[in-house]
Amino acid sequence: NTPDPKFFFLSRQHQEALSRLVYAAQARRGFVLLTGEIGSGKTTLCRALMNRLRLTTEVALVTNANITSKELISSIAEELGVSTRRKSKGAILRELNRFLIEQLSLDRNVLVILDEAQNLRGGVLEEVRMLSNLETAQEKLVQIFLVGQPELREKLNQPELKQLRQRIALRYHVLPLDGDECRNYITHRLNVAEAERVPQFSAAALEKIFRYSQGVPRLVNTVCDNALIVGFTRGTLSIDGDIIEEVIADLEGSCPPSDEEALRL
Ligand SMILES: Nc1ncnc2c1ncn2[C@@H]1O[C@H](COP(=O)(O)OP(=O)(O)OP(=O)(O)O)[C@@H](O)[C@H]1O
Ligand SMILES: [Mg+2]
Repeated sequence: NTPDPKFFFLSRQHQEALSRLVYAAQARRGFVLLTGEIGSGKTTLCRALMNRLRLTTEVALVTNANITSKELISSIAEELGVSTRRKSKGAILRELNRFLIEQLSLDRNVLVILDEAQNLRGGVLEEVRMLSNLETAQEKLVQIFLVGQPELREKLNQPELKQLRQRIALRYHVLPLDGDECRNYITHRLNVAEAERVPQFSAAALEKIFRYSQGVPRLVNTVCDNALIVGFTRGTLSIDGDIIEEVIADLEGSCPPSDEEALRL
């Protein structure tokens, strides 16, 4: 279940999010807040964004959230290739500042993406704002994207984070896939999987997957993967509604009685 660029599927949601993020990064709009439910595709989007920006932008993607502010600054520096060895936080910040000015002179953007930011401690988030203070008289030197689950928005509503909150130039919330997109997403994944023969999901199967997953990609993946395993062990490439029901019941840890058992009851 780790994001693989080959599987990237541009749903309307993801397309829209991606173009706004690209714009925000290139226009140097400062802080961006990207939220979405668990498994909705935020990290996948960040990876797609990094890919898009590769030629113009140095990107630091930091995922480790349970860290101190010094560790955060160190991780960012390391991701950008700035040496941190045996340096104090202040020294690292000065190094970072030099790096940022150098990138500016090379006409390259620098973007820091803090993924899973809902888990960052309040004090560390405040430090993030300090980082954004690195600027020349004319320009911000670094773009910062905060990415996380919806509780990140609540976290940012704390009074002591008011200054940070005020600087957010763009907010985007990723919604799950709708029914059509969910079907297309599944077909897309089956087609890029490069299997010798492509499994077929019946209309009923697709409908049940959507109803269960509500269009959340990670849940869609889990159901589909399990259904394919069931299909494989039974020697069939046709996945129907019954298989999906079985898989969902398994995932939920409750097996409904089979028809025979139900008749006996
Ligand atoms: N646009 C997409 N194209 C292809 N696969 C996707 C897409 N969005 C999500 N996925 C799949 O769904 C899974 C979950 O996505 P991802 O890890 O990006 O979600 P997330 O929002 O970062 O979740 P979390 O809140 O747990 O951090 C991934 O493994 C990925 O394979
Ligand atoms: Mg994620």
